[in-house]
Amino acid sequence: MKICVVGLGYLGATHALAMAKLGHEVLGLDLDTNRVDYLNAGKVPFHEPGLQESLREALSEESVTFQTSFEMTEPAAVVFICVGTPQTSSGQTADTSFVFSAGESLAKIILPDTVVVGKSTVPVGTAEALRDQMSEVAGFPVHLAWNPEFLREGTALEDSLNPDRIVIGSWDDYSSQKLKEVYKPILDRGTPLVEVDVPTAELVKVAANAFLATKVSFINAMAEIAEVSGADAVDLAKAIGYDDRIGNKFLRNGIGFGGGCLPKDIRGFVARAEELGAGEAVSFLKDVDAINQRRRARVVTLAEQELGRLNDKKILMLGLSFKPDSDDMRDSPALEIALQLAKAGAEVTIHDPMSLDAMGDKHLELRREHDISVAAKGQELVILGTEWAEYNSIDPVKFGAQVKTRLIIDGRNVLDVAAWQTAGWRLIALGRNVHN
Ligand code: UGA
Repeated sequence: MKICVVGLGYLGATHALAMAKLGHEVLGLDLDTNRVDYLNAGKVPFHEPGLQESLREALSEESVTFQTSFEMTEPAAVVFICVGTPQTSSGQTADTSFVFSAGESLAKIILPDTVVVGKSTVPVGTAEALRDQMSEVAGFPVHLAWNPEFLREGTALEDSLNPDRIVIGSWDDYSSQKLKEVYKPILDRGTPLVEVDVPTAELVKVAANAFLATKVSFINAMAEIAEVSGADAVDLAKAIGYDDRIGNKFLRNGIGFGGGCLPKDIRGFVARAEELGAGEAVSFLKDVDAINQRRRARVVTLAEQELGRLNDKKILMLGLSFKPDSDDMRDSPALEIALQLAKAGAEVTIHDPMSLDAMGDKHLELRREHDISVAAKGQELVILGTEWAEYNSIDPVKFGAQVKTRLIIDGRNVLDVAAWQTAGWRLIALGRNVHN
């Protein structure tokens, strides 16, 4: 099928390549010239395992092309809207302006039988307004469906090609049939298909992210209790996780969730529910957010407890991205902690296997160091902020010889406590009862 994907960020670029892998002929549209030039040159503008290879493959097979102009020489049967919906700078709501401007431009180039499919995460009710706006501009009733995406950064392509489920929300049978054709290879493998109305499809996405955020904050709340009662939140998570009604996934306590999705989605959800007069229903998400923020503050407090006044204290932050295998630092707990420590007067060095270059000329108050053993020199406190695999293979004995003080806060609970303690480190693990 001829497919068009509008918006070539994380979601759109991945989706375009997933569509090409399924055998479709894909046109990717984005107004950002740099991004389009990059992609046409076979380069992915962000770090995502496997995407680079798939892009080169798709370009050489000519199954994908990218352009900045909103025109299609051959009409696409299905157009996916994958533009971003960031948090507004003035408040907590999701900014849907990119969705509506993409809709307006598309309405001028689509045909009456084109199916437009929203994939962006939007406040419930957006699709209906978009359908009305597009139909008015196009001069015919536009077929619009909603098909949320659940990919995670770090495993984006894999998640797109092997989803747990496909959710299709539509007002008409024609649109859902077209979408089922698009996903035929995936559906033929027995992947569950959930067909719903459009508001449900919009809600599914934010509800899923709200649930995941709640799960992480739940275990982080338990960590707070563990810290004042001498209990151990990691053992607790293990014990409750064996109950398969609870499950052990998304139950890792630490410095909390970040990224371009979970934090802004729970805030946007609360804001939308309030607009709809049902704010109380999800007001608990404000606590979920607050618990998450408190974990970041906790690390700063621990640093102060250990070091006294932070002025001129040398602190090393290991990891900056919001999760490993990603160079994304949006709402990253590690980065925010590093900035708070620097603000309190500490001399903060940052190390990350992937994100240092992506930082450009931002946050120059943080000293960047690519070589981890150079970074370690003279440090009075080390904080593990992102659980990159390479940090697990640090030899605590050799590493201990570089630093000034063998003091580490494991913000992700991944280090081998006994090995670090045997090497003479004082190790503080969030929510854990480790005797130093
Ligand atoms: C999230 C969802 O998991 C995806 O399903 C969704 O499609 C995506 O948002 C989106 O809306 O586009 P992602 O932001 O890539 O995916 O990251 P996650 O893997 O969900 O992790 C989010 C944060 O939670 C990370 O900072 C991670 O460190 C933290 N986390 C996760 C924990 O602190 N503990 C856990 O047990 C799990």
